[in-house]
Amino acid sequence: AKGGKILVLPGDHIGPEVVAEALKVLDIIEASTGVKFERDFDICGGAALDKHKDSVTEEVLKKCETADAVFFGSAGGPEWGTVQPNPESGLLRIRERMQIFANLRPCYFASKSLLHRSPIKAEIIRGVDFMLIRENCGGAYYGKKVENADYGSDSWEYSRPEIERVARVAGALAMQHDPPLPVWSADKANVLASSRVWRRIVHEVFEKEFPMVKLQDQLADSLAMLLITKPTVFNGIILTDNTFGDILSDESGGLTGSLGLLPSASLGGAPDTGIGQNSVGGVRGLYEPVHGSAPNISGKGISNPIGQVLSLAMMLRYSFNMNREANIIDQAVAKVLDSKEDGGLEVRTDDLGGRATTAQMSEAIQSEVTRLLNA
Ligand code: NAD
Ligand code: IPM
Ligand code: MN
Repeated sequence: AKGGKILVLPGDHIGPEVVAEALKVLDIIEASTGVKFERDFDICGGAALDKHKDSVTEEVLKKCETADAVFFGSAGGPEWGTVQPNPESGLLRIRERMQIFANLRPCYFASKSLLHRSPIKAEIIRGVDFMLIRENCGGAYYGKKVENADYGSDSWEYSRPEIERVARVAGALAMQHDPPLPVWSADKANVLASSRVWRRIVHEVFEKEFPMVKLQDQLADSLAMLLITKPTVFNGIILTDNTFGDILSDESGGLTGSLGLLPSASLGGAPDTGIGQNSVGGVRGLYEPVHGSAPNISGKGISNPIGQVLSLAMMLRYSFNMNREANIIDQAVAKVLDSKEDGGLEVRTDDLGGRATTAQMSEAIQSEVTRLLNA
């Protein structure tokens, strides 16, 4: 591994709290492996609105384009509201500028002890393990917008290249497994024209390029219901559009018991395909937890750092080809969550029913990472 250039954008509210903890894990990995990352820190979202009157500056957008990876916290908060440009628009502009069109949002139980935190019965949720791939640069988020005092519209559009490229990421990830993982494509082809085109082109891509992969269609509304009633049916990959993916990935957070647990990777290509490569042979990407800035708990030191820490693991895996270290982080998180079952100290933040602080949870993960790196 060669390290590389990371742009860190902590964002607002709990963003900086959890990003600081995740970077301590990166410090430990650097010290142990000797791999050095060049880290640049900047602002985006509410912080940038306050300082520059814009949610992201052109200078930061340029830095995003040249970084090997962007490590992002979360943007937004009630103090900035929704009038444009709001903090969230900064993140959307970064996704667009970087063309990180494939947003990977895994959902699984890092620890069996979490099964009992899920609002879903353990026998239904046990073994759930899917990767949601959300199209990240198109659809209703990026179509033509009209907004005035009495009227608003967002046009929900998809064109062939946008669908093909994200379908190829799903296919490539499915093929990394033997046998290949099954793929469910979630759409509303019964209602939306953009979905009918989506469905047709996704099938074309899989028939031509991934004939070994089993592809099934599922209407997005019934998929949302089945994720609650029979979630393990979707073990494999769920491929879906920007809006459906946003909603279904928060639902994944509900399944596992806390949104604070879930990481994500937004990639500009697929691993091992040469598409979207960065300067160190990984994939260009932005890494952020699925959750937002959680203004309701910020400043109290009780936010769960796991979503951000697992996003660091995804960054090491996809952008820097550091699989061993990524796996160690995943294992360390699982071990910390399991510690109560092993009769050890309970290290759980409030969202997981515990009393640990962000720092305590992070310290427990850091010491486990240290132990595993030296094992
Ligand atoms: P949210 O994800 O911030 O919070 C939802 C709930 O989950 C809250 O109860 C919160 O306390 C809890 N939660 C979230 N992350 C947690 C963590 N790490 N530890 C413990 N509890 C956690 O969603 P919201 O309240 O709807 O949105 C707040 C702001 O965040 C909004 O401005 C929204 O636009 C923004 N947002 C930003 C991003 C991003 O930057 N990627 C993503 C989603 C929402
Ligand atoms: C997410 C968030 C963002 C989205 C917002 C903050 C722009 O909810 O990353 O899931 O809607 O994509
Ligand atoms: Mn969201």
